[in-house]
Parts: sequence; C-alpha cells; structure tokens
Amino acid sequence: MRLKNKISLITGAGSGIGQATALKFASEGSIVIAADRNLQAAEKTQHLIEQSGGNGRAVALDVTQEQQVAQTIAMVVEHFGQLNVLHNNAGVSVLKPITETTEADWDFLFGVNLKGMFFGCKHAIPYMVQQGGGVIINTASELAIVGQPLYSAYCATKGGVLAFTRALSVEWASKGIRINAVCPGPIKTPMLNAEFELAANPDAERAATIQSIPVGRLGVPEDIAKVALFLASDDAEFVHGAAIVADGGRTTV
Ligand SMILES: NC(=O)c1ccc[n+]([C@@H]2O[C@H](COP(=O)([O-])OP(=O)(O)OC[C@H]3O[C@@H](n4cnc5c(N)ncnc54)[C@H](O)[C@@H]3O)[C@@H](O)[C@H]2O)c1
Repeated sequence: MRLKNKISLITGAGSGIGQATALKFASEGSIVIAADRNLQAAEKTQHLIEQSGGNGRAVALDVTQEQQVAQTIAMVVEHFGQLNVLHNNAGVSVLKPITETTEADWDFLFGVNLKGMFFGCKHAIPYMVQQGGGVIINTASELAIVGQPLYSAYCATKGGVLAFTRALSVEWASKGIRINAVCPGPIKTPMLNAEFELAANPDAERAATIQSIPVGRLGVPEDIAKVALFLASDDAEFVHGAAIVADGGRTTV
C-alpha cells in the first residue's frame, strides 16, 4: 500500500480522471475526500470506493469559491488530523475560435482551471507546512505544451498551470512540499466525449484523434490515475516542479 493512512483531497472527483484517481488512491490505503461541484457525482465515487473496500468521503465543492475551498480544507484537517495529498484536478473546457470566445468563456475557464487551483494551494499549504510536508498534484494537459485549434483559451489556462506549478514548487520545496503537474493526452472521459460531440462528424473526429496517438488508442482515466499515484507516493520523493506527460506519445510527433 503506497498511500497507507494518507489523507487525500481530490477535486473534480465525481467523474473521469478525478474519479479514477480517487479509486486508485483509496485502493492504496488512502482515505479519500472526493470533492466535486456535483455532489451526486462525488457520492457515486464514494460509493465505488466503499464497494471496493476503501475509505472515501464525498463533499460538495465548487473550486471557484474561495470560502468553500478554505472551509473544505479546514474541515478535512479538523476531522482527519492532516492533509497529505491535494489533487487539484477539477477542470472545464470551452472549444471556440478566439474571435468567438466571450469574456464570460475566458473567465469561466480561468476560474475553474487556474483560480480554483490557486485557492486549493493557498489554503492547503499552511497546513502542509505545519505538519512538516505534503504533496500537491495539479492536472494540466498536453495542451499546455502543444496547440490545437479552438482550444486557445483552454491552452492558456493549462500553460498557466505549468508555470504556477513550477514557481510554487520552488517556493515550498524547502518546507517538504512536493508540487508537480500531470499532463494528460486525450483521455476517454465525459469531457472528451462532449468535445467530440461538438464536431460536425464526431466519429470521424474520434478516429482522427486516435490516429494522432502513436500507441493507437485513447487514454483511459486509469492511465492518469497511475501517474498521480506515482506523484503522490514516496517513489516521487525527488520529483519537484515536474510536468509528467501521459499522452501515448502524442506530443512527441
Ligand atoms: N479528458 C481529457 O482528454 C483531458 C486531457 C487533458 C487534461 N484533462 C484535464 O483533466 C481534468 C479532469 O478532466 P476529465 O476529462 O476527467 O473531465 P470530466 O468532465 O469527466 O470531470 C471533471 C469533473 O470536474 C467537476 N468540476 C467542474 N467544475 C468544477 C468546479 N468549479 N468545482 C468542482 N468541481 C468541478 C465536474 O463536475 C466533473 O465531475 C481537467 O482538469 C481537464 O482539463 C482532461
């Protein structure tokens, strides 16, 4: 068990990558607080954790609301005595040419993908310093590294995630806090499915995406959960400020 008795808080844990990571961490002995804006979805994750013999707790959390983030983290520390791992994973996408992107689209993307992460780090780090260390994992994207039409605002948020992660990691490494990012490629989740459905021909879009991935398949949430587990565990003891790409080789071609 690589996370035995660790307390992990995962945002966006009601679906896709967050849910898979919640299940993975729980299977490795962590108590998992599955936080999501959608409480029902978080409760489903709690149920799945319990079904597989793990220890999970669902909480409603909108990461764009600083007070909610602060209160959730305080609740976790008060109830469980510590917070060892924070996975800032909640994210949203909007696909539009920049000429059609509204200020509201931009604010929505930055609010969830970057400001939510800022709130998580701001409020978790003081407890981690107090307890002598901790781990933060930020979900970025392959689109922090390469561009794709219709994704420019999304790419800006994810590029920000990497810059933020690097800067934070050097700010807090001396306090025993490891802060890293994971950069998923196309992963079969409700988010990616919804993006395919926006295309004129969703099946053709899906096929073209698969063709762009050297290993010849889309990723599955478990592929990213395994990377998050590595980053959360002591195996990554010397890994600080890294951006681990898990994309089936897509950004290397
Ligand atoms: N699926 C992919 O191909 C892919 C690729 C690269 C990066 N990512 C990133 O991975 C992360 C997870 O994506 P996913 O594909 O699992 O998406 P998903 O849509 O399946 O799950 C995202 C979850 O986040 C929750 N959420 C959204 N806004 C929230 C908020 N304000 N507060 C709390 N929870 C909120 C949703 O309710 C949902 O349960 C995101 O940061 C996304 O940008 C996904």
